[in-house]
Formats: sequence, structure tokens, C-alpha cells
Amino acid sequence: MAAPYNAVAIVGSLRKESHTLKVAKALAAAAPESLKVDVVTLHDISFFNQDLEGAPPADWLAFREKIRKSNGVLFVTPEYNRSIPGVLKNAIDVASRPYGKSSFLDKPIGIVSNSPGVLGGVNAAMNLKQLLPGITGPIMGQPEIYLVGVGDAFDGEGNCIKEPLQKVLKQYIDAYAAWVEKHNK
Ligand code: FNR
Repeated sequence: MAAPYNAVAIVGSLRKESHTLKVAKALAAAAPESLKVDVVTLHDISFFNQDLEGAPPADWLAFREKIRKSNGVLFVTPEYNRSIPGVLKNAIDVASRPYGKSSFLDKPIGIVSNSPGVLGGVNAAMNLKQLLPGITGPIMGQPEIYLVGVGDAFDGEGNCIKEPLQKVLKQYIDAYAAWVEKHNK
């Protein structure tokens, strides 16, 4: 049976061996039966330019449609210079327009930051919590998750090899699935 709800996990890194991508895939793999998580990277999203709003590029339209059709959006991001990477901000700008018609409207939101360092990308997560409220649905407040030391958390096949991390990912995605269900009734 198909999962009743589907979420889009937006990955904030373009890097081939991105830890963020691995975290997103691990979250998708750990999702309960009620939630299908579609992991999306941002390689194909062209730069936002307000001049193009009259005839938006196909990649913007496809991205907006994907978000609009989802039951929720999960942002999975690294931290770049104490903020979110530019590619992620660009994608958010793209999907937030046209004005008043954000594709994120009413979507229940999850935020997962990570870093190979000790701060877990908390600043990136906080930045998201600052910029999203005007254009999205409710942002899940608890549990919070800022993943530290992800540099050696996955094997060559992308399997999480740190048991405590895997446990935290499972707890988070279960809570997020419940959040999606609650806000799609
Ligand atoms: C970083 N990195 C980083 N890490 C962090 O914890 N706080 C930060 O402010 C920054 N700033 C930063 C800026 C830039 C331009 C780069 C390229 C990197 C390190 C970052 O966490 C590390 O490169 C991760 O591996 C990036 O995530 P992915 O690509 O592995 O998902």
C-alpha cells in the first residue's frame, strides 16, 4: 500500500559525497510506513531573478509543483559561514514566489542541520526558523536536531554506522511523520 503522506526532503548541499545528502537518505530510509520521503537535490534550480516571474523557467515550475503536491517539507542542511548555503536560499526564494502564493504555504516543516564539527549547523537551522514562518506552514519545534560529528557517521554505501545517530534520526522522522499527519487532516 502506498504511504498516505509524502514529504520532500530538500538537501542543502550539492556535493557528491555530501554528509547532508546521506543524512537525508537515512531519514528517508527510517521513515515509518505512513510517510514516503522524496530526497531532492538542488543542482537544477536556476538563479532566482524577479525579471523572469512573467515566464518562469521550467525548472522553477517543476520545483514549485513538487513542493505544492507534497504533504510536508523537510529541510536538511549543512551550515556555510554561520548560515544556510546559497543554493538552499535560492531554492527557497524560487518556491516562495509569486508573492502570496508560496508553494510552501501550509506545509508542515521539519528542519535538520548537520556538521562534521561540534555545533551541528545550529546557526543554519536558526536562520531557517527565522526566514520560513512567513512562507510555510507550521515548523515542528520539538524534537530539535542539530547533528554533530557527521564526518565519520556513514560507510561507503551510505549506511549510518553510529548507532546513537541512527536512533536520533529514527526518533526525529517518526515525530515528523506524526507532525505531517496532524497538519494534513
Ligand atoms: C563550511 N563548513 C562549516 N561548518 C560549520 O559547522 N559551520 C560553518 O559555518 C561552516 N562554514 C562553511 C563554509 C563553507 C563555504 C564551506 C564549504 C564549508 C564546513 C561544512 O560543515 C562541511 O564542508 C560539510 O561537509 C558541508 O556539508 P556537506 O557538503 O557534507 O553536506
